[in-house]
Amino acid sequence: MKKLIEEINELRRKKDAVILAHNYQTGEIQDLADFVGDSLGLSRQAAKTKSDLIVFCGVHFMAETASIISPNKKVLIPSLEAGCSLAESINAAQLREWKNENRNAVVVSYVNTTAEIKAESDYCVTSSNAVKIVNSIPSDKKILFLPDKFLGNYVKAVTGRDMEIWDGACHVHKKIGDVSFSDSQKAHPNAEFLIHPECGCSSSCMLKSQLYFDCNSVHIFSTDGMIKFVQESDAEEFVIATETGILHRLKKIKPSAEFFPLSENAFCEYMKKINLENLRDALLLDRYEVKVDRETAERARLPIQRMLEITG
Ligand code: 13P
Ligand code: SF4
Repeated sequence: MKKLIEEINELRRKKDAVILAHNYQTGEIQDLADFVGDSLGLSRQAAKTKSDLIVFCGVHFMAETASIISPNKKVLIPSLEAGCSLAESINAAQLREWKNENRNAVVVSYVNTTAEIKAESDYCVTSSNAVKIVNSIPSDKKILFLPDKFLGNYVKAVTGRDMEIWDGACHVHKKIGDVSFSDSQKAHPNAEFLIHPECGCSSSCMLKSQLYFDCNSVHIFSTDGMIKFVQESDAEEFVIATETGILHRLKKIKPSAEFFPLSENAFCEYMKKINLENLRDALLLDRYEVKVDRETAERARLPIQRMLEITG
């Protein structure tokens, strides 16, 4: 392992590469990265970096988003198997058919989508800004929201908008919904509960929080939202409802605190396709480049830019 890390460090220096890692990557990849963050934060870093070579340790749609925002940079992903079940839950033909059935509707897509889907969309959103962006759309417009039904249901309930929601879900977060929150709350009465909006329980949990929870201790966040909350909180106990890779970063940020995953089984096998060997090979062999064809990239950039303009 030491030798691999030395090789990676030598290659990144020689090639002036920047290594970006998502919050769900393994601890060893996170520790090597120049930046660790959520899907949107990493794309922003990709646009900001002066380096022309980016090695994206995350899943394919994230590397694609980085490439769309920074078309003149070379973006590599160390494994082509690093996909995403949520992004795969809708394809462009299905979206076109849905749009045809709802000709005046506005299409709002979660960032966990392929470039082709973004190219067919009016707005892109992340978990942290979906409500704000939907609220910015003229109130007489019907909205088609995709692909995550849990985030969609939550946004619909909060905004009260006329919204159709695609029946998509992430297999990791959907399963977290099977775990009993009330048992966990009994076991950790003083903990703050941080829940990713893709979780199978998030929408109902937010809406029913008055009934089941002490509202003040339940928070819905994107992965970077969780990091920020922990940095600013005085609490010493947290229950985390998302992929368990994030625990490595949380423990580093606040070593004095205790972190409990709501589900020990929340493991994204796609994220974990990336390892030290294929990261070294990506740098050594310049592989695998993630490139979106120019026309698709130009169309896909529009909904992302709209989101960035609204959220700043
Ligand atoms: P974030 O945007 O919160 O990093 O989430 C991305 C993701 O894939 C969650 O499963
Ligand atoms: Fe996709 Fe789910 Fe993995 Fe996130 S955790 S990358 S949504 S499969």
